[in-house]
Amino acid sequence: MEQIVLTGIKPTGQIHLGNYIGAIKPALKLAENSDYQAAYFIADYHGLTKIHDREEFRTLTYGVAATWLALGLDPEKTIFYRQSNVPEIFELNWILACFSPKGLMNRAHAYKGIVDSNKQAGKEVDNGVNMGLFTYPILMAADILAFQANMVPVGKDQIQHVEIARDIAESFNHQYGETFVLPEYIVDEETSILPGLDGRKMSKSYHNTIPLFEEPAKLQKLINKIKTDSLPPEAPKDTESSILFTLYKEFASVEEIAQMHKKYESGIGWGEVKKELFAVMNRFLEEPRKKYQELMANPEKIDLILQNGAEKARARTLPFLQEVRKQIGVLR
Ligand code: ADP
Ligand code: TRP
Repeated sequence: MEQIVLTGIKPTGQIHLGNYIGAIKPALKLAENSDYQAAYFIADYHGLTKIHDREEFRTLTYGVAATWLALGLDPEKTIFYRQSNVPEIFELNWILACFSPKGLMNRAHAYKGIVDSNKQAGKEVDNGVNMGLFTYPILMAADILAFQANMVPVGKDQIQHVEIARDIAESFNHQYGETFVLPEYIVDEETSILPGLDGRKMSKSYHNTIPLFEEPAKLQKLINKIKTDSLPPEAPKDTESSILFTLYKEFASVEEIAQMHKKYESGIGWGEVKKELFAVMNRFLEEPRKKYQELMANPEKIDLILQNGAEKARARTLPFLQEVRKQIGVLR
């Protein structure tokens, strides 16, 4: 049986290095494996739980699409689409909602996190929570189950959501017989959490990111802002605990990495490391940055690619939804 690998990114901010290293890079690698059919999408309706400004929503959505394409996603091989272009996902969302215990949603991390911070701030527990945010994991389950995906590459923070999708699928299967494939998450252990400028997890929410397609001068500036310790240049330095080294490894060649390792051992100034990091990073990003800018200037090109992708997506989700409708008794 064909194995399907599926993942989505929501358009809630500019794509940063953490997104690239933790999610996009491993997913693109999987897509190259011809044993798998990859289905990658822009989770725009997930983004709507947060972004309520029309222009911002549009730009961010195109931004995610252009990022995937600029980094080498091949829309001929990969089914590449926009979630909102596949209506079956939203019908399935409702069906699955009728199999999702409310308590399961209460325990989902994102929602629980907001409730906890509201409690701490002495606010109403559900302050700022819309129903889209509360039922977010059900829509994500629909994304995954509508495609009968086997594997879902995600960052660590998304593991619980994939487990929720399994739980919902199991309870449906238990009632109606084997219908949904039970998905597995794939987490890249080595690069699961990339730290940001301040040493905390790089995240849009912390405003500590390095956007992937920043202009070179700005990129060097941001790299210069990465926190380091106060060791003098000649002191030997530890590669393991160094954010600069972690980043360097992602963009440098094997020989360059070995050389940098030696320099850390014999002593190198942080300013010098930052310069070299910029050089390897910019070398890699130059081409994709150009492609990204070109796509962003021609959103109709992106639309065309996504429409084609949606057709390929629906060739799968439509017949499958017919099966589901039969199972529940909506269709004969
Ligand atoms: P953010 O935390 O900036 O809001 P998202 O939650 O939109 O990012 O994450 C999109 C994808 O990128 C997810 O698969 C997530 O696990 C991954 N990701 C986000 N930040 C990092 C990071 N600092 N290191 C590794 N992966 C990350
Ligand atoms: N919730 C994911 C995130 O915040 C995005 C997402 C939506 C997703 N639907 C998905 C990821 C389905 C994998 C599979 O990063």
